[in-house]
Amino acid sequence: MKLALLLFLIGFADSCLRFQSVIDLITVPNCLCPPIKLLDQQGVQTNLDGNYLKNMQIWKPTIGFSTEKECEFNVICSEVPGASSFSTMMFRENGNPIYLNRVVNTQNTFFEQPRSMDTLWCGQDTDGSYKWIYYGQPQEDLSFACVADVDSCKCPKINYADNYVVLDERYPPDHCSMYSTGCIQEDPYFPFLYATGESRNLVINSASHMAGFGMTVYEDLLCVKTSESTFQWHYSNLPLNDVSIKCNTIKNEFGSEIYCGCGAFQWIGSYDQVVARDRKKQYVGAEIKSMLYNIGCEFDMLCGDGDAVVFSDNYDPIEAPSQLYFKCVDNPLSVYSHMWLVNGVRLINPAAGCLKKIPSVSTPNCLCPPIKLLDRFDVEDNGYGSYLRNRETWQPTIDMEPSSSCFFNIWCFPVPGVSSFYTVMFRSNGSPLYINRIVNNQSTFVNQPRSIGDMKCGLDTDGTYKWFFHDYPITDMSFACQADVESCNCPPIVELPSHPALLETRYQGAPDQCSLYNAQCEDRALLPFLYSNNGTINSGALGPTFYEDLTCIRETYGYFWYYFNQKLENLKIGCDTVQNAFGSGEVCVCGNFPLITSAEQLNRYDRQLEYTNASIGTYSFQPSCEFNMNCEEGYTAVVFSSNYKSLKVVGIPVKCTYNPLSSLFRMWVVNAVRVLNPAGACLKLN
Ligand SMILES: *[C@@H]1O[C@H](CO)[C@@H](O)[C@H](O)[C@H]1NC(C)=O
Ligand SMILES: *[C@@H]1O[C@H](CO)[C@@H](O)[C@H](O)[C@H]1NC(C)=O
Ligand SMILES: *[C@@H]1O[C@H](CO)[C@@H](O)[C@H](O)[C@H]1NC(C)=O
Repeated sequence: MKLALLLFLIGFADSCLRFQSVIDLITVPNCLCPPIKLLDQQGVQTNLDGNYLKNMQIWKPTIGFSTEKECEFNVICSEVPGASSFSTMMFRENGNPIYLNRVVNTQNTFFEQPRSMDTLWCGQDTDGSYKWIYYGQPQEDLSFACVADVDSCKCPKINYADNYVVLDERYPPDHCSMYSTGCIQEDPYFPFLYATGESRNLVINSASHMAGFGMTVYEDLLCVKTSESTFQWHYSNLPLNDVSIKCNTIKNEFGSEIYCGCGAFQWIGSYDQVVARDRKKQYVGAEIKSMLYNIGCEFDMLCGDGDAVVFSDNYDPIEAPSQLYFKCVDNPLSVYSHMWLVNGVRLINPAAGCLKKIPSVSTPNCLCPPIKLLDRFDVEDNGYGSYLRNRETWQPTIDMEPSSSCFFNIWCFPVPGVSSFYTVMFRSNGSPLYINRIVNNQSTFVNQPRSIGDMKCGLDTDGTYKWFFHDYPITDMSFACQADVESCNCPPIVELPSHPALLETRYQGAPDQCSLYNAQCEDRALLPFLYSNNGTINSGALGPTFYEDLTCIRETYGYFWYYFNQKLENLKIGCDTVQNAFGSGEVCVCGNFPLITSAEQLNRYDRQLEYTNASIGTYSFQPSCEFNMNCEEGYTAVVFSSNYKSLKVVGIPVKCTYNPLSSLFRMWVVNAVRVLNPAGACLKLN
């Protein structure tokens, strides 16, 4: 008799399938919202976030309507032959499936059917059309299906290895691994699900904790048939391998407190946290910006700069221009369970932050990090470059050879109203480098595009590829074009009365450019220098002297001359010898490079007081255009300068080398940093 009935039901189900395909769409009476779809197995196959269920037995539910309230409906999944355990699921095109109801052994695990959802209602979208709205989020193609849950004994056994876990079988004997669990230690210890997935370790706080009973259940844990012969545990839509259950605290495991009943929620405060979660490499090189939020069961996260992004273990990152709204809501499966929702999508282990993607240039063959293109805000955030923050800034064009050589060229094209500008390289471990200067639409040296000498991509000792400038690795290499239009606002440059230089205007009539001079000394034995309250500058000119690195910069309170990144107040131009002006002789075109021999000298150069009372070594080397600072055993080679912090030099020569702005100038470079008025020392801290 039983067998006959079963056969009859199968036959009935079969004939219904064909028949039902015409009633796929259910119009809710007196409701402006689109019809609801009922999905069978084929319908689930084509659902983007639901097709992991495609090999399961799936059938259509029945929809009931309210006679009192417009647009209200409910869903019933009834048993079909071969499936006495099953779930009711909601599908949509713009989100993952939401599990609405669970039946095990013909018994509802929590609520009775039919199930209605008061969080799903019919409302108007921003374009005026009527849509089904789930927790505030318009749903595309709202659909429902019944999914069999009959394979749990075929999934790998869950390991309850931890001695501290207390187990109770929930539905003996035919449903495997349906347990309620607890921990021998009380709150705040909870039994967490541990698993691996996509070569990551996963920890899931099921958040179905019945505090009164000291019990945790896993309503969302489903054994999914992934092919004809393979089965895999899923927690909601997150696939899990090697599942085990162990006791721990949320604080230990997630480093955060419990937020509402939803469990851990993490804030992204460092780039490492992004790298750990950015599985599709969408945020390589992104900057972490500050965020504003008031944590609660429902809260906004606001970003002043950058996009609001939330990562999770079970969904692609969700991104919005400056704001995301987080909700910790009831899990429809049980009142003891809650879940995080963002844009109507259920997220497991969300981690959110404000991230700013910086445009960058790279080619597949170049193994070095992408070259970033900065805007004004990025310049403001750049340690040694932030003095350039008030300049109009735009992106250069970078052309990289498709070969593995990584050779690249840079162009800055003029922007409206700006006829004088620089191309500038920024980095996080050095000061900016001026690469090219345009005055009055004219390159002051060779025409663009420009490349940088002694810049290459290479393997660093840590096994990663990096950009190297003069053999030293540079971090976060980036470029920007910056207007240079303030010079007529700066104080006029005057001649030093005691040793005047002969000045000749370089760009007659150039708009936005005052005081651009060629300088000469009447006495050919002397050189023109820049004098100021903040020191004297030798421009390192090979022949005639002019000042490519001299530029007028607007600050909050006024305009100031800067030579490269050194501010010069009360600027004058005068003539003298290197010996007189700097107290020691010239070692190369770059100027002098004294070696410190007395405590008095050391104290003068050591502005950061890093080497107070250090022992000064003896020098077995002499500065030249390129030299190694090899100190005796126990002593460290240090270079001080007027424009940068002290630099420890290990194994890299100090060079007087080309200034990228023009082959007519030389500059001192130490650890890829341009230093002004350097002095070297071998020092040992006592
Ligand atoms: C500079 O070039 C731009 C674009 O070609 C042009 O609009 C502008 O008038 C030029 N400025 C000068 C001073 O020649
Ligand atoms: C430059 O020198 C003046 C006068 O000695 C001083 O007030 C100012 O702080 C110095 N500026 C810098 C950037 O060192
Ligand atoms: C440096 O030496 C002087 C004199 O010996 C001493 O008074 C001072 O405390 C020392 N400073 C440091 C930082 O060791």
